[in-house]
Amino acid sequence: MTSYAEFYRQSIDQPDAFWTEQAALVDWFTPFTRVCNDDNPPFTRWFEGGQTNLCHNAVDRHLASRGDQAALIAVSSETGQEKTYTFKDLHAEVQRMAASLQAIGVVKGDRVLIYMPMIAEAAFAMLACARIGAVHCVVFGGFASGSLASRIEDASPRVIVSADAGSRGGKALAYKPLLDEAIRLSSHKPEAVLLADRALAPMTLVPGRDLLWADLRAKYMNAQVLCEWLDSTDISYTIYTSGTTGKPKGVQRDTGGYAVALASSMKHIFDGRAGETYFATSDIGWVVGHSYIIYGPLIAGMASIMYEGLPTQGMDGQPNGGVWWSLVEKYKVTAMFSAPTAVRVLKKQDPALLKKYDLSSLRALYLAGEPLDEPTARWISEGLNVPIIDNYWQTETGWPLLTVANGVEATPSKFGSPGVPMYGYNVKLLHESTGEELLLPNEKGVVVLVGPTPPGFMQTIWRDDARFVNTYWKSVPGKMVYSTFDWGIRDEDGYYFILGRTDDVINVAGHRLGTREIEESISGHASVAEVAVVGVADALKGQVAMAFVVPRDSGVFNDAAACLKLEGEIMKRVDGDLGAVARPARVHFVSLLPKTRSGKLLRRAIQAVCEGRDAGDLTTMDDPAALQQIRHRLGAA
Ligand code: PRX
Repeated sequence: MTSYAEFYRQSIDQPDAFWTEQAALVDWFTPFTRVCNDDNPPFTRWFEGGQTNLCHNAVDRHLASRGDQAALIAVSSETGQEKTYTFKDLHAEVQRMAASLQAIGVVKGDRVLIYMPMIAEAAFAMLACARIGAVHCVVFGGFASGSLASRIEDASPRVIVSADAGSRGGKALAYKPLLDEAIRLSSHKPEAVLLADRALAPMTLVPGRDLLWADLRAKYMNAQVLCEWLDSTDISYTIYTSGTTGKPKGVQRDTGGYAVALASSMKHIFDGRAGETYFATSDIGWVVGHSYIIYGPLIAGMASIMYEGLPTQGMDGQPNGGVWWSLVEKYKVTAMFSAPTAVRVLKKQDPALLKKYDLSSLRALYLAGEPLDEPTARWISEGLNVPIIDNYWQTETGWPLLTVANGVEATPSKFGSPGVPMYGYNVKLLHESTGEELLLPNEKGVVVLVGPTPPGFMQTIWRDDARFVNTYWKSVPGKMVYSTFDWGIRDEDGYYFILGRTDDVINVAGHRLGTREIEESISGHASVAEVAVVGVADALKGQVAMAFVVPRDSGVFNDAAACLKLEGEIMKRVDGDLGAVARPARVHFVSLLPKTRSGKLLRRAIQAVCEGRDAGDLTTMDDPAALQQIRHRLGAA
């Protein structure tokens, strides 16, 4: 058996041989002629000359061997519905959806924007796009009109697939009015909107534009749509993520490299075995949903549970903190993937719930998306009695960058560390300002990657190669390396510890949000002169957004009722623009914000004060009264 160290070394020193072997885990219609083309860095191209299809690998190739086995298990504790689709069923549904999209005029390369709750139709739509070579752009259903509009604008989709409503905590959340408003705000208009009607909220259809999925499905009941063989480097999808500016970035991914990366990670990292059941509790609107609810498990021939609802709500809609464990028991889940926040929520439930169900099928719990704190890790590890495997990655990477690959060699985990560099990733720690490599243990630096980047990694930013290069590859002086924008340290044994972002991105309950986007929404309020949003440590959600607002009318300060009213209006505005996920936990009113003499906002100093830490070097600060005021406001709150 190969040691992980050898496996890793081969991936870096002989990438062509290494990835050729991994590529055999997926089906190719045409074999590739070149493994890695890094002639034009940082644009790495994988498996050139090869042709394949993600939907074929996720669905069709399993029909002969496991057509009657479960593929997609759609469970909703919101509606009480629970339905298992075998690979054959899924194949039929995806073809119906593909035929419907084709009938509307969707062809290879067209974008299809998917704005949907966690229902099976969302999976059909993603797989149907992959089948016909359309590029899907899934937008998180928790986002509201403003966020959605900027994504419609950027993606310019021919068609949008959506639904009447999502549901949370038993309350319907109408999507259609948000979508209509977003289309109104965007200068790009889709030719058609395909809607799943769940009868949760009334819908007004726009004649000539809006179509009902049920109608088209009935029409294409027996449709047979062959997979379009795509070049390995053809785009499979884009997914938007937040960065330092208010404008979200469309992370663009290829087809062949992604298929190989997922197949390989299912084998070496996630211990995914065909015929078993995988349960990732994320959302299709996030990268974890793309990689490990839809494509990864299906490519591996596993059944994947797609869950709509809270972790604390039973199938009867009543409070039940054991609902996920009941699903593990019922579907004999072998691998589960969640986020630390969800575990912290469950930790507040009756501990007896963990003992109530037979969880013996479960071999490991994988957690990602935010730092995993030791008490949470210990609690769940003792409760489940299986290894808890932290894994660190990003929307940009598509699959884990740091973790342990127990499928290659059993490797111990360390509390507080996601693990070691994964094969294919040439990870380094660099000094923030000099760009020098930090070789000694326990030195804090920026986590970077040296190219070529592995299969599955983002190709570029959709329609913006320059932004891709300038944002990610030019942030460290004198070196062309990919910056993760995360701080990290590495210990004597080579384990990494992630210490938070170097930029203005915050992480609320595992959701990645840009403080600039929230600031832009808030400054749109007529009574707001200036605003700063920072992420502040929170025991449950990891971080929450906190807003400091300079009102136009200073009269607000002495009027508690006016403050409360404005705070409410600002929160409502963020809800309407971006969605409740981005809503600040508090809005504090101040007369000035801490800035440098050149006018740059000192977000890190504000954040430090909010967290009761030392605000650091303030020699460049213009007016010290600004921070004192913030201290005062927080003290008063
Ligand atoms: O800051 C890191 C944090 O989440 C960021 C990426 O978020 P996103 O693009 O939404 O992708 C999530 C994919 C799992 C990272 O830059 N992050 C992610 N995983 C971890 C983490 N921080 C600490 N530990 C992790 N395991």
